[in-house]
Amino acid sequence: MSGAAGISPRSLPRAVPAAGLLALLAALSLGGLAACSPVPRQTPIRYLVGFSQANLSEPWRIAMTEDVKAEAARYPEMRFIYTDAADSTGRQIEDVQRLLEYGIDLLIISPTDSRALTPSVRWAYARIPVIVLDRDVEGYDYSLFIGPDNERLGREAGKVASELLGSQGGSILEIGGRSGSPPSVDRSEGFRRGIADRKNALISGTIVADWLRDRAEDELSARIRTLPGFDVIFAQNDAMAYGAWRACQVAGRTGIKLIGIDGLAGPMGGIELVRKGILSATFTCPTGGKEAVIYGMDLLQKKEGIPKKIYLRPNKVTLETLVASDSGPASPRDRALGRRIVLGFAQVGAESEWRAANTKSIKSAAAKAGIDLIFVDGEQRQEKQIDAIRSFIKRRVDVIAFSPFVESGWDEVLNEAMAAGIPVILTDRTVGIKDNSLWLSFMGSDFVEEGRRAARWVVEELGSSNPVNIVELQGNIGAAPTIGRKAGFEEVIRDFPNYSIIASESGGFFREQGYSVMKGILASESREIDLVFSHNDDMAIGAIQAIKEKGLRPGRDIVIVGVDAIKDAFKAMAAGEMNCSVECNPILGPQLMKVVQDYMAGKDLPIRMITSEGIFPAATARRDMVGREY
Ligand code: AHR
Repeated sequence: MSGAAGISPRSLPRAVPAAGLLALLAALSLGGLAACSPVPRQTPIRYLVGFSQANLSEPWRIAMTEDVKAEAARYPEMRFIYTDAADSTGRQIEDVQRLLEYGIDLLIISPTDSRALTPSVRWAYARIPVIVLDRDVEGYDYSLFIGPDNERLGREAGKVASELLGSQGGSILEIGGRSGSPPSVDRSEGFRRGIADRKNALISGTIVADWLRDRAEDELSARIRTLPGFDVIFAQNDAMAYGAWRACQVAGRTGIKLIGIDGLAGPMGGIELVRKGILSATFTCPTGGKEAVIYGMDLLQKKEGIPKKIYLRPNKVTLETLVASDSGPASPRDRALGRRIVLGFAQVGAESEWRAANTKSIKSAAAKAGIDLIFVDGEQRQEKQIDAIRSFIKRRVDVIAFSPFVESGWDEVLNEAMAAGIPVILTDRTVGIKDNSLWLSFMGSDFVEEGRRAARWVVEELGSSNPVNIVELQGNIGAAPTIGRKAGFEEVIRDFPNYSIIASESGGFFREQGYSVMKGILASESREIDLVFSHNDDMAIGAIQAIKEKGLRPGRDIVIVGVDAIKDAFKAMAAGEMNCSVECNPILGPQLMKVVQDYMAGKDLPIRMITSEGIFPAATARRDMVGREY
């Protein structure tokens, strides 16, 4: 895949002087770096995009590179070059450096090894926008991650394996990608969860084949006589599933059912393997290449509201689903053609400044997008939200969206929406239900990460030696942000024995309750309180009031950390009464409307979009608060 194509001095990156042309051409052809997207002469190049690919030996990665290339070709002002690291971490580290030296404006990278490439990605991100594809690196030092939900892919594959084995159960051979690599580990863990309900479904053996067809075939051929028997093979990609099938054929082991992942189109891709009856099932694993270029363009044009992480949706492919799609189901758009889209939205309530900003964002984005919004305020009551969803079903809205007050208890009503054929989109908070196919897409924050961010800041500021007594003000019990923030905070402080949570009570995310709960704790607690970790800023502000009334100085005598980064928190920080706020972005309206429109246009939706967020300490509050939207 190396070599130079379509390069002329006009198409060179601005950073490369014309005199450097010979050297660059030599580097391009010798160094495994390829240039694509021939450019009409009249179009000036505005953006040079570099793509660092882990390898070009796996069919799925070839498809990813083709997806990036095809999408980039749609933008005449974009020039696209890519490198193939041939699965060598060292080489990919050099590739990143080389691409930046060429003057790229945006880096897209699909890392060979998540941990080893983290410093390179961080280094690049300090200079230009970076999109990480497929394998996530550690931390959040990049512009955007786009990839598959590998745990979910494994879990779905496990469910299919259970179905194939039936009530009599049986044995499964697992063929893994690469030992210890995150996608391999996640698919494996998900698979085990997927078969957990069927007690007589056992994994009798495991083979590792580095994602490669030939290796799977060779390994299985060499071991097929000594391995315990198996009825189903779960291979973590289609290429290995095909290799395993060939080994079974040669060994005369017929009747084994095979499940793969990738679902690529084209000759001997997963879809054809299903059509031919070689695989019983596969799952599409979108490469994210196309989305990387689309979002890359948004980053280059400095558009706002770009998420931090996007998990793409897998689709199950079996003979039945193929027959059904061959007969062409009506696209959802057909239902709405010629009229405005109708969206039913059930909001949690109006408990906080955050919620007010979220409601405003949803209403104004709907108006801007020309979507008819039926908005119901749930008034902090799950029953009210359930009633609202039922009323949306009755009115036959096109799409239902809601932010669940609590995580559990939604199965029945979501089954009703599913039976009525109305898709459900979750915003802000997620549900905790068994059947995640009952909702289509989820956009919101990573609440666990918010809790971790708060705790990391605390540990950095207060250290690991002096005892720190913490009061935790929780949000409403059972809500996703309450569960997530608590878990993330505790996960970090667990490693520091000097931190202890001496009181933890719910203030329901209300400012007034933050005040009354803190007042009660201050009255009853004889131990010194060093820190308040509040699950939102409103409760923190209520607590600040209670602390002042007690004659103590919030921000000094007691460190105050909240979540949301609302305007009042910045004011409290500027006044020296609060120490830090972890951002939780309420501006979800534009993303929600885009997803609704994409759904109605028959496009595939991401399964999860995580909002981009930061952390704001008091030291920079005055500067940071300027121009904030909420
Ligand atoms: O679900 C988001 C949380 O709900 C916000 O952090 C809190 O302020 C709100 O009410």
